[in-house]
Amino acid sequence: MIAQDISHDPHARLVFAHTELRAQLHALLRAARLMLLGKGDFALAPVIAKALRFLAVDVQLHARDEEESLLPRLRAKLKDPQSHFAYLLEHIEQDHHELSQLHRDFDAAARKLSARLPFEGAAQRGQLEPELKIYRERLSSLIAIYDSHMKVEERDIFPALAVVFTPEERSAIAAEMNERRAMVVT
Ligand SMILES: [Fe+2]
Ligand SMILES: [Fe+2]
Repeated sequence: MIAQDISHDPHARLVFAHTELRAQLHALLRAARLMLLGKGDFALAPVIAKALRFLAVDVQLHARDEEESLLPRLRAKLKDPQSHFAYLLEHIEQDHHELSQLHRDFDAAARKLSARLPFEGAAQRGQLEPELKIYRERLSSLIAIYDSHMKVEERDIFPALAVVFTPEERSAIAAEMNERRAMVVT
């Protein structure tokens, strides 16, 4: 039902992606906390794998929605290229650039950590180091950037969709977002 609704509503699709991203980051954080408590067992492996897949596939599609469908159209509407809004668009793109490297680093750390989880029983924290420490450091960097990044997008960028675009432009954006997903082989 949700998928049907968001396919016609770019704003809803963007917000939905943020909601899911927050949930996946939370799941990754919860996994780290359990491992710190000596409760790192193999049940965490699929949780981490699901979140990594979301970060690698869905989040990349979401970033392309913003970079290819939203930001260029907003930039084209700018009356003052020196405005605060213009600065925000620039800032969003810089964050994306920084995040893509961070995603790769975190993915590698999470895979190494996941491979250390025992098939039976739970690992003590010490058995998962130093991978657990690296995972936690990279995850907190990801969370810190995404936290402020998503707030700025939700507060300052996404609402512009309803204000500056005509219904036809919003339909064109929705069509591009749908097309982007149709190209992904799952
Ligand atoms: Fe973004
Ligand atoms: Fe976003």
